[in-house]
Amino acid sequence: ADGPRERMKSAHEIAAKLYYHVLTLTEQGADGRNYVKERGFTREQIERFQIGFAPDRWDSLTTILSKRQYSLDLMVEAGLVGERESKDGYFDRFRNRLMFPIWDGQGRVIAFGGRTISDEKPKYLNSADTPIFHKGQTLYGLHLARPSIRKEGTVILFEGYIDVIAAWGAGFSNAIATLGTALTEEQAKIIRRNAETVTICYDSDQAGINAAFKSANILEQAGCVIKIADMPEGLDPDDYIRTYGANRFKSDVIGASLTFMSFKMRYLRRGKNLANESERMRYIEEVLSEISSLPRAVERDHYLRQIADEFSLSLEALKQEQYQIYRANR
Ligand code: CTP
Ligand code: MN
Ligand code: MN
Ligand code: MN
Ligand code: MN
Repeated sequence: ADGPRERMKSAHEIAAKLYYHVLTLTEQGADGRNYVKERGFTREQIERFQIGFAPDRWDSLTTILSKRQYSLDLMVEAGLVGERESKDGYFDRFRNRLMFPIWDGQGRVIAFGGRTISDEKPKYLNSADTPIFHKGQTLYGLHLARPSIRKEGTVILFEGYIDVIAAWGAGFSNAIATLGTALTEEQAKIIRRNAETVTICYDSDQAGINAAFKSANILEQAGCVIKIADMPEGLDPDDYIRTYGANRFKSDVIGASLTFMSFKMRYLRRGKNLANESERMRYIEEVLSEISSLPRAVERDHYLRQIADEFSLSLEALKQEQYQIYRANR
């Protein structure tokens, strides 16, 4: 007979099938279908990502699992079912939510992200870690994206499931996402095993910009070459694609990706008035400090020249200054 982990996985498969069936074919899925239509998901996106809907009922999945002889205590441990406080029964953990199956590297469903279709909190209800699901070791969409990641040698990393799905609709099959938490070293290692170049395409709000910094550092440690997509302030990739379309996403966001250093320079400029001499000097000082930590001489040279040109400074003086910073920080 199957062990508990296998039972948990097959239960997730049953749940995914139920949610997909409800969304695509049943009366109970009507609100989910409306939501999906408003957000502009296509039939193809729903199918590829097996998007579903958990009905607004307490016992849809629980009844099915129980009929199929699944131990409901095990299903509680798997995160699909809750136990009543009075301990006299069980209930569906996901209700009235759009359901995104989360797969392991082999394409088995091991968890769910459930998005509310109203303004209920939390916006996303995600499976907690279980014996079959370790959030920090899982990347959303990896098994679907792997063939094209390998073929292209590059991967695009997003914040949200919906961004991955929107990117696929815009022609990018090499898209994956973290699962609502900061990128871990384990995830970075998994990414590096699949591709050398990573384009980080996080939301362009303060939280997303900070997260991009952190992820870029972790990915660099893991040996990846980093690019950071150029998203206009305040949008996320799904918003952008919906507003400006696939072509502009391709040319102006992914195509206009910055190196990590250029991203840092842009960040350091923010809020500074470079026409003001002392603010300009502080900016140059900060950039030189970043340049001095670049490992490759050609890269250092490239950015030193850029600064020399922009501020009409002698390259020699900048080099000296950069070297002093390097010596001081060693
Ligand atoms: N997330 C989460 N819990 C929340 C908010 C976010 O787990 N309360 C995770 C989800 O995995 C989500 C990702 O963080 O996909 C990005 O969050 P956010 O940008 O807020 O969501 P979007 O993906 O933009 O979703 P939507 O467009 O539906 O708002
Ligand atoms: Mn384990
Ligand atoms: Mn966000
Ligand atoms: Mn977002
Ligand atoms: Mn969004």
